[in-house]
Amino acid sequence: MKNKILDFSTLDQSLLKKLDAYIDALEGDRQEQLIHVLHHAQKLFTYLPHNLQLYIAHALDLSGAHVNGVVTFYSFFNEEPVGKYTVSVCMGTACFVKGADKVLDRILKLTNTKKNVMSEDGLFTVKDVRCIGACGLAPVVTVNEKVYGNLKVKDVDAIIESCRGDEHVD
Ligand code: FES
Repeated sequence: MKNKILDFSTLDQSLLKKLDAYIDALEGDRQEQLIHVLHHAQKLFTYLPHNLQLYIAHALDLSGAHVNGVVTFYSFFNEEPVGKYTVSVCMGTACFVKGADKVLDRILKLTNTKKNVMSEDGLFTVKDVRCIGACGLAPVVTVNEKVYGNLKVKDVDAIIESCRGDEHVD
């Protein structure tokens, strides 16, 4: 990787400078802090496109494959642009047996999108995720940081509408 000519000119250079400053300030073994770096990068860029993953790999002297393996393992990392609202539907066992698949279908229909693809209006990205540790509330959906539990399919409409409602100031 070190000898390869890498072109990062398509990335926002001012954000890259901020990322560099963050990496430079890290103490201890930088490679072991890959997840922190990825979190910070996603906060800055809102998602982690492949050339940004390569940039991070280069900066931490890791392989691109290693970085991509970590990004794709954790559902909270996004390789594609994300909507203002990330709607995560837990598909762990407890949620699944309580109808999470129907909840997911309804959300996809209401947002008119597919899993992991930002809706055309830029508002929503819908994901299915592994158990988020709130099985007692199954089925569970999160919208950004907010958690909705004991959901029924009919509850979903109001949640999506409230997100849309936040966009309109009448
Ligand atoms: S299975 Fe959904 S929160 Fe655990």
